[in-house]
Amino acid sequence: ATILILNGPNLNLLGRREPAVYGRETLDTIAAACRERAEALGYAVDVRQSNHEGELIDWIQQTHADVRGIILNAAGYTHTSVALADALRAVGLPVIEVHLSNVFARESFRHHSFIAPVARGVIAGLGSHGYLLALEAMARLLDADRA
Ligand code: DQA
Repeated sequence: ATILILNGPNLNLLGRREPAVYGRETLDTIAAACRERAEALGYAVDVRQSNHEGELIDWIQQTHADVRGIILNAAGYTHTSVALADALRAVGLPVIEVHLSNVFARESFRHHSFIAPVARGVIAGLGSHGYLLALEAMARLLDADRA
């Protein structure tokens, strides 16, 4: 069973991009940590990043049968994308929303998420650790759904 970990625009720049806000870890480092944690939990991960809204939507639509859940940091699209939320609704897989930064402590335009109403839960402000927490939460809810 696979958990898809989708990352939106500008997250390819992690490590160099506003490190005071987003930390010094790169997406590759985060992906490696996710892979290791997922394996320990009995899952595989597919970690992807795109700067293009349509590509993220294509990936959501094209999830193969082995994908059981989606962990999504939609980055800036969190606050703008009805289409991304619609795609998640269409596939109906469990979603956990992740943000590195505490979006609620930042500009008010970051306080609203189009993804949150579709998500089983939201993790924000805990840096890259949030991805690992999301994996643990996803594994737990998938195991519970399976039982
Ligand atoms: C982010 C928060 C968003 O508001 C921002 O646009 C990002 C990253 C985060 O992980 O903290 O690009 O999703």
